[in-house]
Amino acid sequence: MAEAPEKNLALDIVRITEAAALASARWLGCGDKAAGDGAAVEAMRNSFATLPIDGTIIIGEGAKDNAPMLYCGEKVGKGVAPALDVAVDPVEGTNLLAYGRPNAISVVAVAPRGSMFDPGPSYYMQKLVVGREARDVVELDAPIRDTLANVAKALKKSVKDLVVFVLDKPRHQRLITEIRDAGARIQLQTDGDVAGALMAVDPRSEVDIMMGTGGTPEGVLAACAIKGMDGQMLARLDPQSYVEKESINEAGIDLRNTLTVNDLVRSDDCFFAATGISGGDFLHGVRYSARHAVTHSIVLRGKTGTLRYVESYHDMDKLSKLSAVRY
Ligand code: FBP
Repeated sequence: MAEAPEKNLALDIVRITEAAALASARWLGCGDKAAGDGAAVEAMRNSFATLPIDGTIIIGEGAKDNAPMLYCGEKVGKGVAPALDVAVDPVEGTNLLAYGRPNAISVVAVAPRGSMFDPGPSYYMQKLVVGREARDVVELDAPIRDTLANVAKALKKSVKDLVVFVLDKPRHQRLITEIRDAGARIQLQTDGDVAGALMAVDPRSEVDIMMGTGGTPEGVLAACAIKGMDGQMLARLDPQSYVEKESINEAGIDLRNTLTVNDLVRSDDCFFAATGISGGDFLHGVRYSARHAVTHSIVLRGKTGTLRYVESYHDMDKLSKLSAVRY
């Protein structure tokens, strides 16, 4: 017998990313990344309180000692079933927001309790992300030239037509040289590899593949969306300091393991939402008119693969009378 569709939690969590985007967008270009992030965290936490879930934050703002809200282990929601792992990044790209650059987004993902990869003491992870057509032709340790040739073949284009998203960091100098030598094009961005991963799996974007090392929490968040879009993320923890490496070893985690999207989120029943804060290639930023603030979001349900773009018109007069948060 066919399964009846269950509640699509993505349509609930998008209200949370919208709230965080609305609160933080006021700080666009102000040069103060803590202020923008703080506004988003507070709005997100307030919104979670209205959600009928029993959530535990797995990917949050850090350990309890240094994050007053949305810290790892914090309980969110009304405390009623379903029991969920929760991943949040109130502002993914705090520098992008503070300096008015594109692609700052607010992100939330949820999945059944116990199904999300817990980064523990790991901050950095090597990642390779591709969309559905190329998901079976990539290997994390293959030479860059071979990877690009295989992806190009899967996408029925030439290597010179490919665009690779890479974070513009000194650690990627060799990677960038190898991509250039292979003949592919590069989109270099200072920050925001969740957006980079989303673009790599979305066939409408000019980005075909994302490569390089970025945040481990951001990797788990992106995996929830990649799963819904049937793409692939191959990843390996890639500590960037001696202290990080030692902490991972002490936690008994094998640094040699290659993780797939299914290791990062072990259930198809995951939900993902992201709302644009600053305007970018795949999401508009928050826009204001005389009466409304307009938000643009992507919502995804892993099980069905349904992807929705949601444009919401928030009546600022009404909202200011109702809401505890200042928008
Ligand atoms: P923040 O929003 O926490 O500043 O993260 C932005 C980001 O660019 C992520 O997208 C990326 O995964 C990570 O930082 C890379 O870290 P680093 O800038 O330390 O190389």
